[in-house]
Amino acid sequence: MSASTAHVRISTLVTAEQIDARVREIAGLISHDHAGTELLVIGVLKGSWVFLADLVRQVTIPLLVNFVAVSSYGDGTYSSGSVKLLMEPDCEVEGRDILVVDDILDTGLTLKFVMDRIRHRRPHSLKLCVLLDKPQRRQVEIKPDYVGFRIPDRFVVGYGLDHNQRFRNLPFIGYISQTE
Ligand code: IMP
Ligand code: MG
Repeated sequence: MSASTAHVRISTLVTAEQIDARVREIAGLISHDHAGTELLVIGVLKGSWVFLADLVRQVTIPLLVNFVAVSSYGDGTYSSGSVKLLMEPDCEVEGRDILVVDDILDTGLTLKFVMDRIRHRRPHSLKLCVLLDKPQRRQVEIKPDYVGFRIPDRFVVGYGLDHNQRFRNLPFIGYISQTE
């Protein structure tokens, strides 16, 4: 481990059991709301992949999975404000029922950009599902359709969320509480 990560302590905010229960609930809602359709689930890389993998395995309607890649954060904990599109979904979007899945809605800048991009390709329907929502941090108007947990304005890691690309593999969500 590098010096910058050697003395980090993580305190749990949401346990793996709580995440598991909530993912099942949301998957149930998504399956119910989209009954009779084939869903195109678009994950926002990289933060969404752990949540997305668990979520789609609990959804009971037919679906396709695709990805969009964006970069919005540098190596620290604050948004640069500018969003860069690194990869677009490589499939037909027009006329489809789409669910965008991401780890966290923070300022909203990233997902506003992603949702506008996808809306431009004229889907039949377009919804947004985020595991975490920090409403206090919002800078743009954006309302998610499915939210796992509303959390306070603190930087979190785990379950796909990173700090300097680390901690994505933690099975729970926690705060970085101490750097000695
Ligand atoms: P935005 O500020 O809503 O544009 O958030 C952009 C991205 O920043 C999210 O998709 C996350 O990848 C990342 N992010 C925002 N808040 C946190 C956090 O508390 N921990 C880890 N990543 C975060
Ligand atoms: Mg992200």
